[in-house]
Amino acid sequence: MTGKPIILVTRKLPGLVEDRLQRDYQAILNPNDQLYSADELVSLCAKADAILPCHTEKLTADVIARLPENIKAICNFSVGYDHVDIDAAKAKGVIVTNTPDVLSDATAEIAILLMLGAARRASEGERMVRAGEWKDWSPTFMVGSQVSGKRFGVIGMGRVGQVAARRARGFDMDVHYYNRTRLDESLECGATYHENVEDLLENCDVLSIHCPATNETTGLLNKERLSLLPKGAIVVNSGRGGVVDDDALIEGLKSGHIFAAGLDVFNGEPDNIHPEYVNLNNVFLLPHLGSATTETRIAMGFRALDNLDAIFAGEEPKDRVA
Ligand code: 8YV
Repeated sequence: MTGKPIILVTRKLPGLVEDRLQRDYQAILNPNDQLYSADELVSLCAKADAILPCHTEKLTADVIARLPENIKAICNFSVGYDHVDIDAAKAKGVIVTNTPDVLSDATAEIAILLMLGAARRASEGERMVRAGEWKDWSPTFMVGSQVSGKRFGVIGMGRVGQVAARRARGFDMDVHYYNRTRLDESLECGATYHENVEDLLENCDVLSIHCPATNETTGLLNKERLSLLPKGAIVVNSGRGGVVDDDALIEGLKSGHIFAAGLDVFNGEPDNIHPEYVNLNNVFLLPHLGSATTETRIAMGFRALDNLDAIFAGEEPKDRVA
């Protein structure tokens, strides 16, 4: 390779990240933040040495097969990498990295916001005030559910799940969790481990989803499992929409078995989410804002660049997932 490596950056990134990119690489930027089709993506890769995509770019087996041989790496601007077909990348010898750690605080903040927003009917109340429909106050007006002192159940006690659990402890919540492997006692901080999801579900008042979307977790929260939650439970999802069976959750929300849900991620996001969600009063909805803070987005960009730097220095990148 002569000159600086060429990096295809699929979305507009924070200024500081683009500055560093332009200092160290020949960056093909996307100043208009246009969402590329698969064909556009593949053709833009013609001269690039690596791609820096977001979860909005679906790097399926077909797209990866069509990537030119000059593409050495896919350095994601995201911790989740379910948008990349890892087996296809491995088979083609393309390195894949993600950005763990740096978004744990921001995403855990959103999980807590979703929990409180759902529990205290924030969406419903906010809409009422904005619409000028708030006419009275009474002791029985818009009563929600209190989370303090209740059980906070975590599916997926990875980095984000652990921070969310720590924040929940600030509300004197008793933490329960399910994870494929039990955490070391020093990381558990007194949380109760459940060997299977079913057992966890029977033991939580708030369920917060933090596991990645994989073949094993797709549709994990289905009708049978939702029915194991105690009546009045709250469901929070800041992980991936695919973990939830939308029809089942909507049925639970309608019947009142589930008191409310706070959702930041969806099947079919952004523009093809289950239409019933928007008609339900007992859901608090956000448009995938988990990592959307200035600090975190800069840190994610720098982490992706650290991985690129390592790869082009011939070293092992810190966050290699394939
Ligand atoms: C990011 C996320 O904003 O990093 C992830 O996996 O889900 C988000 O918080 C997004 O993926 C950026 O590509």
